[in-house]
Amino acid sequence: MDSKKVKRVLLCRPTYFTVDYVINPHMKPYTVDGNIALLQWENLVAILQSLEIKVDVIDQKEDVPDMVFATDQGIVRDGVVLLANFRYKQRQPERIYYRDWFRENGFGLRALSNIFPFEGGDTLFFGDMLFVGTGFRASISSCEELSRKLNIDVMPLRLVDPFFYHLDMSFLPINKTTAFYYPAAFSKNSQNLLQKIVPNLYELSEEAVKSYAANAFVSGDDIVISAGTPKSFTDDLHKLGLNIHEVDVSEFKKAGGGVHCLINVLE
Ligand code: ARG
Repeated sequence: MDSKKVKRVLLCRPTYFTVDYVINPHMKPYTVDGNIALLQWENLVAILQSLEIKVDVIDQKEDVPDMVFATDQGIVRDGVVLLANFRYKQRQPERIYYRDWFRENGFGLRALSNIFPFEGGDTLFFGDMLFVGTGFRASISSCEELSRKLNIDVMPLRLVDPFFYHLDMSFLPINKTTAFYYPAAFSKNSQNLLQKIVPNLYELSEEAVKSYAANAFVSGDDIVISAGTPKSFTDDLHKLGLNIHEVDVSEFKKAGGGVHCLINVLE
């Protein structure tokens, strides 16, 4: 495996995590057990620390239950963050809280010059390209400026199933040649593009993708995945030589989020 080793990440302590509105088909209002959520989150932090990753923590504010999903807040590269433009008003205040955290911690701040939505969960690096899932959260109109501001080639991929509303729900890059995807989450042309561009493209079964297999975190030879994925998926990961670390994130799934959503890579 030649995946980048992650050095530092940002997570949000789920002090006020709950589900009290619905902006994706997974969300089940008033079902979250806050104590269990906190324990699951602490387990995730412990796993990341055991991989020698420095974990920074931002405190959650009470008015933003989805603030725990740190990956959505923007793209961090070389000490500069490009802040998200959240599509739904319920999540828009999160940006201010994270902006303040990034500023206080010495990061440069950038933003799109327009209001076209993009959220971190829709933007995944593959080699030297940025793949952007469009259709539900990120707007295709955000892609041009993303490309310019990050000085990177951007490939939009059209998502067609609201159950996989962010790219990180159905696409999992492992390194610059290998990725997993769930074909039916993408338009036919986007499936064809992925097949052309990704040399080793593995298919996720419906069972795997629905157990949040794609929503995983990769660092070097290690992968942190949601507990409860099928054996066919973990067998593929073993074949790729990855060390698997499982964590139960059942409470966060009630909001439509998993392991990947909870982690923003800083370095
Ligand atoms: N409830 C959140 C939302 O709908 C979940 C976000 C999960 N994040 C992700 N990167 N998939 O916005």
